[in-house]
Amino acid sequence: MGRLSGKVAVVTGGASGIGEATVRRFVAEGARVAFADRDAERGRSVAAEIAAAGGDVRFTAADVGDEAAALAFVAEAEAAFGRLDILVNNAGIRLYQTVVDASAESWDTLLNVNLKSYAYCAKGAIPAMRRAGGGSIVNVASVRSVTAGGNTIQYDTAKAAIAGLTRGLAIDHSPEGIRANAVCPGPIFTPFHARRIAAAGRSVESYNEDAAGRTMLRRPGTADEVASCILFLASDDASYVTGSLLFVDGGMTAM
Ligand SMILES: NC(=O)c1ccc[n+]([C@@H]2O[C@H](COP(=O)([O-])OP(=O)(O)OC[C@H]3O[C@@H](n4cnc5c(N)ncnc54)[C@H](O)[C@@H]3O)[C@@H](O)[C@H]2O)c1
Repeated sequence: MGRLSGKVAVVTGGASGIGEATVRRFVAEGARVAFADRDAERGRSVAAEIAAAGGDVRFTAADVGDEAAALAFVAEAEAAFGRLDILVNNAGIRLYQTVVDASAESWDTLLNVNLKSYAYCAKGAIPAMRRAGGGSIVNVASVRSVTAGGNTIQYDTAKAAIAGLTRGLAIDHSPEGIRANAVCPGPIFTPFHARRIAAAGRSVESYNEDAAGRTMLRRPGTADEVASCILFLASDDASYVTGSLLFVDGGMTAM
């Protein structure tokens, strides 16, 4: 019996990095999982690989920053699997700008994905969770929810807002058995960072050294280490945890 046996989960941004690790971990723990990503090719290939190994997954190619697309994704997941217990809001992008450089359009681009998609998916999931008798929402926030990155004004703003969104969801819906929490990852080596390092002509070693200097554990984390904490918050092991931020950052924020 897995820790999520009988549960149905939806995950956004599940084709890569932390989202992909979460989808795989949830399936390994017995959940049926629907995931959305705007990268259709990678999403299909992840879903096919999991299905070939016997996992029960559905992939939807969607931009979850679009309200109608987010609501449709969640509704289709409940219709296909017959219930919905867990939502993991994870899709995210980065922009590198100060407030002076940022255009109204770039604010919309980032906030639509990194913040509003979380609210849209929760809007779709909460009625379904009520029908299931309760549920758990896990928002992927960041150490940037409480600190600033520098030259990432829209990202830092969105991540701080996710902390508020998490507490607001928790106070409104915990009385009906729907918990809401967030994980706040620190430096986690994902395909996103691999692309960024390659584009900047940096080595993986220099990324690792940088993460070592900024964390108590002296290394970057892995997507699997974040997925473990998402699993904990999503599962009944966290039955008395709501409205909380769990830092998965190697001690970065406490330094
Ligand atoms: N990697 C880190 O160091 C780190 C640290 C703190 C927080 N996070 C957060 O973790 C989450 C995942 O990041 P990651 O490092 O795994 O990145 P990633 O780029 O590897 O994965 C993100 C996924 O989200 C998808 N996505 C982006 N916009 C989308 C949209 N509009 N609709 C649907 N899917 C969309 C991408 O296609 C991609 O598959 C993000 O919210 C990020 O802010 C990451």
